[in-house]
Amino acid sequence: MNAPLHSPRIAAHDIHPMFTARWSPRSFTDETLPEDELLTMLEAARWAPSASNHQPWRFAWGLRGDEGFDAILGGLLDFNAAWAAKAAALVAIASRSTVAGSEGAPEVANLWHGFDAGAAWSNLALQAHLSGYAAHAMGGFDHDRAAAALNLPKDHHLHAIVAIGRQGEAAVLPEKLRAREMPNARLPLAQIARRGTFA
Ligand SMILES: Cc1cc2nc3c(=O)[nH]c(=O)nc-3n(C[C@H](O)[C@H](O)[C@H](O)COP(=O)(O)O)c2cc1C
Repeated sequence: MNAPLHSPRIAAHDIHPMFTARWSPRSFTDETLPEDELLTMLEAARWAPSASNHQPWRFAWGLRGDEGFDAILGGLLDFNAAWAAKAAALVAIASRSTVAGSEGAPEVANLWHGFDAGAAWSNLALQAHLSGYAAHAMGGFDHDRAAAALNLPKDHHLHAIVAIGRQGEAAVLPEKLRAREMPNARLPLAQIARRGTFA
């Protein structure tokens, strides 16, 4: 079943309800996230498709209260850190931008590493939703600060930091964020997909 009629999340075609039910809240309960649940989400990410099956995605994660969590949190910009500090887990998503050349040749660029990391993020977010958690991606981080804190290798690109937890009450958020604490809409399909042409 799709979202109720007052929701901006009404699918125009018959899709699985998880696609419209997943969204990115900023309020989390105090509940911790068992490591197994986090590994289940990363496992879903691991099964994403990738160019030549290179699997360029890499993850650094921490559970609230551990050093890894604090290291990732320290990389976030203030406007995200303010609410993401209450998440039960933080996951930094990077991808390796090169692959080994054939037969010992030097490393070559993997043009699809970012595309593939996006597919892995999507799997992670949908698994989090199916497991009863919410995952919220953030591009608002200081790249150099996060890269240093997480020992990001030189040929890796850091894409996003993801906050994960059980969704909390909107009421606990500051007023500005409270007003935005709801599922949003999407562009009409006809605006983003055309038969045989982009424009
Ligand atoms: C790569 C990426 C970067 C994002 N950066 C931020 C961010 O810095 N702060 C934030 O609050 N939300 C951020 N978001 C969340 C998006 O605003 C959100 O996914 C989008 O509005 C669609 O809403 P939904 O996820 O609830 O469907 C980001 C999402 C993605 C995928």
